[in-house]
Amino acid sequence: SSSERQFLQRKRPIYVPSRIDDPSYVRIFDTTLRDGEQSPGATLTSKEKLDIARQLAKLGVDIIEAGFPIASPDDLLAVKGIALDVGNRVDDDGYVPVICGLSRCNKADIAAAWEAVSHALRPRIHTFIATSEIHMKHKLRKSPDEVVQIATDMVGYAKSLGCQDIEFSPEDAGRSDPEFLYRILAEVIKAGATTLNIPDTVGYTLPSEFGRLIAMIKENTPGSQNVVISTHCQNDLGLATANTLAGAYAGARQLEVTINGIGERAGNASLEEVVMAIRCRGDEQLNGLHTGIKPKHIAVTSRMVSDYTGMTVQPHKAIVGANAFAHESGIHQDGMLKFKGTYEIMCPEDIGLVRADEAGIVLGKHSGRHALKTRLSQLGYELESKKLDDVFKRFKAVADKKKSLSDVDLEALLSDEVFQP
Ligand code: KIV
Repeated sequence: SSSERQFLQRKRPIYVPSRIDDPSYVRIFDTTLRDGEQSPGATLTSKEKLDIARQLAKLGVDIIEAGFPIASPDDLLAVKGIALDVGNRVDDDGYVPVICGLSRCNKADIAAAWEAVSHALRPRIHTFIATSEIHMKHKLRKSPDEVVQIATDMVGYAKSLGCQDIEFSPEDAGRSDPEFLYRILAEVIKAGATTLNIPDTVGYTLPSEFGRLIAMIKENTPGSQNVVISTHCQNDLGLATANTLAGAYAGARQLEVTINGIGERAGNASLEEVVMAIRCRGDEQLNGLHTGIKPKHIAVTSRMVSDYTGMTVQPHKAIVGANAFAHESGIHQDGMLKFKGTYEIMCPEDIGLVRADEAGIVLGKHSGRHALKTRLSQLGYELESKKLDDVFKRFKAVADKKKSLSDVDLEALLSDEVFQP
């Protein structure tokens, strides 16, 4: 439409938040709406994608990968809608997230991505091509020289469209020849790439190996000091978070993650794990690394993504699982009642959770007398020692048959019909 044309023609201010000049600042690139949506069965409507994108902006995500515009006309419209909405809302601190669209290394994909993201104040095209021998030979059926040529031509094409923020990913970098990576990465930098994302596409590397790969790329790729190095770790061996942190330690300053760790196959590094690990241990163990994420929005975002995608979060999932701040064993409950730091390294309130009960205590068959006494006292029952012993015996008998006892169960235990002193 003509208003769209006018929009595209106007001179776009480039917002570069000052915090990214900080060498210890780690950008969080969220790909829930792209890689996350590739989880089998996790399809989202355009409205749900927009809601999630708004929530990601509230969370303070630096870059939102909003989708893969060539995948379908709906995907293109959804990315464009996010670019027009979230991508144009500048907050009082000058923050507005980068809106990114994925494309393979071909003109149609790149043009579709640009058509969708160019409406944002800070648009990015993310283009990728495989670089491992196994992918080049069996999937692309191209020689390494041809792959370098395609990559540089297509980064150049993205630049020719007017895109100034171009991310390039050598797909399956975790299994690629490092010497070949240095070569192709140096060429795409010359062609205009501004972020080099290193994907461990099949979740194959170990943390020490992935960290070394990032360090070696930084050391051996001409021009790499002028671009941002990024990680994208899949979770096939359950190592995505560990690999991502190893990459950050080795110098990556953009980390690609998803909410609840959703994504292809076993998923991606999860935003909440990576961010909270950096928050809890960044100063001591990661040379002072920090992110711009506001953790108090984590719990709500996690729930929204789980509800919209239908992908439930397992109870023992780190940070956002239902049991992440629950304590059942008597020894742990006793410790928690004395001092919370005994068994918690962060507070549920940090991620925006409100605990139903002060010490996160779940009364079950492993619980002790101290926890029962405390809960009864919170409910207004101060029992003398002998009576408490009796109630405790009854409590254990019921707890053996039930997963956990609610306040209503406790009231029933104390009621005249059930409790015979
Ligand atoms: O896993 C992968 O290699 C990807 C790239 C497109 C970054 O998702």
